[in-house]
Amino acid sequence: MDQHPSREFAHQLDAADELSHFRDRFFVPPGQIYLDGNSLGLMSRDAERTLLDVVEKWRTTGIGGWLAGDSPWFTMAETLAARVAKLVGAQPDEVAIANSMTINLHQLLATLYQPHDQRTKVLIDAHSFPTDRYALRSHLQLRGLDPDEHIVIVPAGNSRFLDEDKIVEALANPELQMALFPSVVYTTGQLLDLERLCRAARENGVIIGLDMSHSVGVMPHALDDWGADFAGWGHYKWLNSGPGSVAGLYLNRRHFDAEGMVHAGLAGWWSVHKESMFEMSDEFFPGLGASALQIGTPAVLSMAPIDGALRPIEEAGLKAIRAKSVEMTEFIIAFADDELQELGFSVGTPREAQRRGGHVSLQHERAQPMSLALRARGVIPDFRKPDVLRFAPSPLYNTFAELGDAMELLKEIAANRSYEEFSTTAALVT
Ligand SMILES: Cc1ncc(COP(=O)(O)O)c(C=O)c1O
Repeated sequence: MDQHPSREFAHQLDAADELSHFRDRFFVPPGQIYLDGNSLGLMSRDAERTLLDVVEKWRTTGIGGWLAGDSPWFTMAETLAARVAKLVGAQPDEVAIANSMTINLHQLLATLYQPHDQRTKVLIDAHSFPTDRYALRSHLQLRGLDPDEHIVIVPAGNSRFLDEDKIVEALANPELQMALFPSVVYTTGQLLDLERLCRAARENGVIIGLDMSHSVGVMPHALDDWGADFAGWGHYKWLNSGPGSVAGLYLNRRHFDAEGMVHAGLAGWWSVHKESMFEMSDEFFPGLGASALQIGTPAVLSMAPIDGALRPIEEAGLKAIRAKSVEMTEFIIAFADDELQELGFSVGTPREAQRRGGHVSLQHERAQPMSLALRARGVIPDFRKPDVLRFAPSPLYNTFAELGDAMELLKEIAANRSYEEFSTTAALVT
């Protein structure tokens, strides 16, 4: 950023911002600067509307809602999948809206982890989100395999960031059957070169999956072009569809059979062909495409807000969303460089825009009490152990002026040491 990230400059950026009108579509908590969009996005009026529509339909039609109206619950997952597919660069039938991210990971492991000959191992990175590791370990245990022996971790090295060269090297291991990487690392905000990793995995005959929890909704993806095998993500972060909202998964068509059917590793009556669901047959007719990876009855109330939540994203377009997101993260980094370094902060996120997701991590040894102090003054970041403050501005509802104010407040709190009064152990969520 060429210019100093002052409040005045922030106002100039807001004046030029073509996405600024989307803010009115969101319920921004009064008196708050909400910078936690990568943990739980704010509710939009659109998401509230589509949730209330389902509540109303349930109230007025009871079981009729499964088949009645514009958005029958029976096919709601497929209708939404076709829209979400555009956000991730997939065909409509390669996406399913189902379950939670963690359950989907179990499902994808059960479906695609097929150890054979010497290919029995799974490659992950040193910074993977705990749920990915827990799911993987427990899945291997269920298969009677020792996780310590079958999980290979790419060495972290000295850098704070993952090194794609090392990952590519590690993918050449002939004992690998599968690899699982994040799109954006939840702590550092590092965006991996996903095209390169998918290509290397394909060249080495390794099935590759991506945890895209921290990127879907805030940047474009090209899963088909990259040639990924599978991916999973939640919708409650950048996609703003509410706490515990139903998640998404991707399964590349190369894993469909000749008739387009998918044999789910974890099957249920929603994994069967929709036309034969109510046959209640002992015989199992696999469902078509990724939607066969649903397991049981979809959580319609948790899926309904996705319909509305998608609307502002579709209207704004991911290209414009990503462009503003990059500008916003750049603003925070520039402020940290100019004003916060001397107060003991360092930037813990890659500086190159193409290596950065939607959030910025600032490191400070007193990050936890600072996070609490910011919250007490109405600025909502979050904290990740041991020393990371994460700032996640949403291009749809945050302004540059808010970023300026939040950064000035952080500077003041750090300079006055007013964070010292905040206990580091009392809070569950910091
Ligand atoms: C990177 C990442 N993966 C997976 C998950 C887990 O998703 P869920 O709890 O919805 O299953 C999260 C949740 O925050 C996450 O940040």
